[in-house]
Amino acid sequence: MTAAKQPPKKLFIKTYGCQMNVYDSERMVEALGGVGYEEVKTPDEADMILLNTCHIREKAAEKVYSELGRFKHLKAENPGLKIGVAGCVAQAEGAEIIARQPMVDLVVGPQSYHRLPELEAKAGQGAKALDTDFPEEDKFEHLAKRPKAMRGPTAFLTVQEGCDKFCAFCVVPYTRGAEVSRPADRILGEARDLVERGVKEITLLGQNVNAYHGHEQGLAGLIWALDKIDGLERIRFTTSHPNDMDDALIEAHGECDKLMPYLHLPVQAGSDKILKRMNRSHTAESYIRLIERIRAARPDILMSGDFIVGFPEETEEDFQATLDLIEEVRYGYAYSFKYSARPGTPAAERQDVPADVADDRLQRLQALLTRQQRETQDAMVGREVTVLFEKSGRLPGQMVGKSEYLHAVHVPGEGIAKGDLRRVSITESGANSLGGVPL
Ligand code: SAH
Ligand code: SF4
Ligand code: F3S
Repeated sequence: MTAAKQPPKKLFIKTYGCQMNVYDSERMVEALGGVGYEEVKTPDEADMILLNTCHIREKAAEKVYSELGRFKHLKAENPGLKIGVAGCVAQAEGAEIIARQPMVDLVVGPQSYHRLPELEAKAGQGAKALDTDFPEEDKFEHLAKRPKAMRGPTAFLTVQEGCDKFCAFCVVPYTRGAEVSRPADRILGEARDLVERGVKEITLLGQNVNAYHGHEQGLAGLIWALDKIDGLERIRFTTSHPNDMDDALIEAHGECDKLMPYLHLPVQAGSDKILKRMNRSHTAESYIRLIERIRAARPDILMSGDFIVGFPEETEEDFQATLDLIEEVRYGYAYSFKYSARPGTPAAERQDVPADVADDRLQRLQALLTRQQRETQDAMVGREVTVLFEKSGRLPGQMVGKSEYLHAVHVPGEGIAKGDLRRVSITESGANSLGGVPL
């Protein structure tokens, strides 16, 4: 008697946090694909629900518990349903999660998710499965081979993980562990594979991507090696630390045509007192000088950044220094956050700035950043850009893609397909995107 072929089991995965989690979620889907799962778009029909979580701010972490609460009725209706928590909350809280939400069957950290098939089997037998190790083995070497199916024109590729910088506010060194770089040959292999599957633009990911040391010439060496891959048209990388922007990388921005003129380079604050207390190990002045050097290499580069307001002991004067720095740099894009004390980080010991003061500063900061973002975008009108088209737009016949500068651009889409790269003349600037006509 031969066993009947099992129908696929259904996996619903929800991703929070940074792009590295987006990449990890893809790899988790692939890992569970090897043991008979296929991805579905809603939790209602799932046999397994996985939340790939973020611990960076309190709100992000709390979202996980409110989301789990919402799955309670699904578990009541389908006792066979398995619920798993992956990612940075899993790493930070481990077994606590099961103590707080006993319906959780599986907890897996960002460095051990290659073991998902074994954990799934364990959960399938009714046991709680927990793995938040930082294993010796390289998870990428143990993950399922990536499938060969065609995919969209853009992809993320994790090249480096973890962080040794220990900024005083940040959980990443604890949730992702010490800095590790993947070997360049493995990354090049994965990149070639992605290109064969239709990918034209790759964004190299790392919590500290420019600290990458898997190539003897660092991240710049890896970029130049990727530059040689036929069919790969665009390279981006994120997120960088100012202290790791070496000369070779700055030079690559000037000389490598495939490296796009967009750089996310968080500074967090503009006051040297606060930067010191944040343990950032750079000053406002050194950051501004660095940007001058980057702009000398690539004058049109669009700068993006991250800011935290209301860090403990931030005075109005300190906050003003952040506004001054922003005025001087002129950002094309930025992310800004109210400081959130994270358990176990050094800054969590210190006295918080009152919430209303922090709220007010965040509003003022965002008003300035929004104005700069809008000005940068408006300045594109009348210029020509190259757009990599990714999908249809909201209006019938429209196509949308990204320019070199990562602006969303929509055009009348006649004769344009997903994955096409076309020169576009920009004719209008809207709230969040540009409009143009293909040339
Ligand atoms: N590795 C990157 C990004 C880290 S997390 C870097 O070094 O820049 C992304 C952003 O979240 C950070 O740049 C910071 O602006 C913000 N962030 C991190 N911890 C935070 C906290 N405790 N409160 C508020 N914002 C925080
Ligand atoms: Fe966090 Fe700082 Fe490391 Fe960025 S550099 S991940 S902010 S500790
Ligand atoms: Fe969040 Fe972890 Fe990324 S804490 S920002 S998901 S590295």
